[in-house]
Amino acid sequence: MKAVVVDSYNSIDGTSIKEIDTPGVSKGCVRVKIGAAAVGFVDGLKVQGLYQTKDPLPFVPSTEFAGIVDAVADDVTAFKPDMPVIGMTRSGALAEYISVPSAALKHLPPQVPFEAGASFQANYLTGLYALDARASLRDGEILLVLGAAGGVGIAAVQPGKLMGARVIAAASTAEKRAFAVQFGAGQTIDYTRADWRDTLKELTGGHGPDVIFDPVGSEVALQAFRSIAWRGRHLVVGFASGTIPALAFNLPLLKGGALLGVDLAQIQKREPETHARLMAQLFDWLASGKLQPVVGKVVPFENFRDAFKTMQSRSALGKMIVKFG
Ligand SMILES: NC(=O)c1ccc[n+]([C@@H]2O[C@H](COP(=O)([O-])OP(=O)(O)OC[C@H]3O[C@@H](n4cnc5c(N)ncnc54)[C@H](OP(=O)(O)O)[C@@H]3O)[C@@H](O)[C@H]2O)c1
Repeated sequence: MKAVVVDSYNSIDGTSIKEIDTPGVSKGCVRVKIGAAAVGFVDGLKVQGLYQTKDPLPFVPSTEFAGIVDAVADDVTAFKPDMPVIGMTRSGALAEYISVPSAALKHLPPQVPFEAGASFQANYLTGLYALDARASLRDGEILLVLGAAGGVGIAAVQPGKLMGARVIAAASTAEKRAFAVQFGAGQTIDYTRADWRDTLKELTGGHGPDVIFDPVGSEVALQAFRSIAWRGRHLVVGFASGTIPALAFNLPLLKGGALLGVDLAQIQKREPETHARLMAQLFDWLASGKLQPVVGKVVPFENFRDAFKTMQSRSALGKMIVKFG
């Protein structure tokens, strides 16, 4: 089968499609013919060896996929060939086939295209876990989403709206702000402007945001915290800017505010009941059509580098998708 193989930690230009063995189906596993795979910020870091954990070389990047069941181990009963599924794994999704333990798969509602399925789980679970389990976002509260048009940002805008919040999207370009409005933001802010906190103050009538969803970091994060409402909750999701900010402890004191960490990788292990509840909520929204996962740019498998480059040049809208076949 064909797969994108990372032989050395490098820029995406140093990575190519190679012919490798199609994986077998060992006990408890299911082999999936991949229809679409997602590329996120973390995948870009992993290819370059810049992520906090390194995948041993050689490896096939991408952790999220959607496709059709191709073969099933004898002891697996929940899946049968030709069923549409989505899955999350540590790596390996930029390939024609992947073999994973059945627990890594979920049934994909038949009306949901592969592109949407592949962009669904990681970001929306992060978004919902942050807003629900960490910030306890309430109906009518003001939610400020930084980097709102990015993969995980837009996956906080939509659940935030569904939870009844008033969503303010902060993004760097007019196109990105319009994109966030398209998916549920009620108001927007250009946070590249020096006076953006004044705009935020005006938009919130001096109240400030009750909850801040922050996948960006840097000075923007510090400025956002300075504007937070009394008893506000600032969700630390990521540092797409490349800079981890350092917050002076007097600010949470003065604001009665809280900094809350969010780590997708630990949710299922540390909070299995919360994980199950939130996944059930997400799949319910997905099946009913209440939540339509945002599909960013879709590129054919042969052009997989475009997905990485679009994201790495800060021009992505939503999550980047690589399509097979
Ligand atoms: N904690 C978790 O479990 C978890 C889960 C998923 C992702 N993350 C993290 O969240 C962050 C965003 O991931 P993503 O997949 O949403 O990435 P993305 O699609 O590339 O979005 C990142 C956004 O950050 C903003 N940004 C500001 N400065 C930037 C810079 N110098 N370079 C690139 N983007 C910049 C951009 O919006 P503007 O141009 O509008 O500023 C961009 O839309 C990453 O740090 C990722 O590791 C964490």
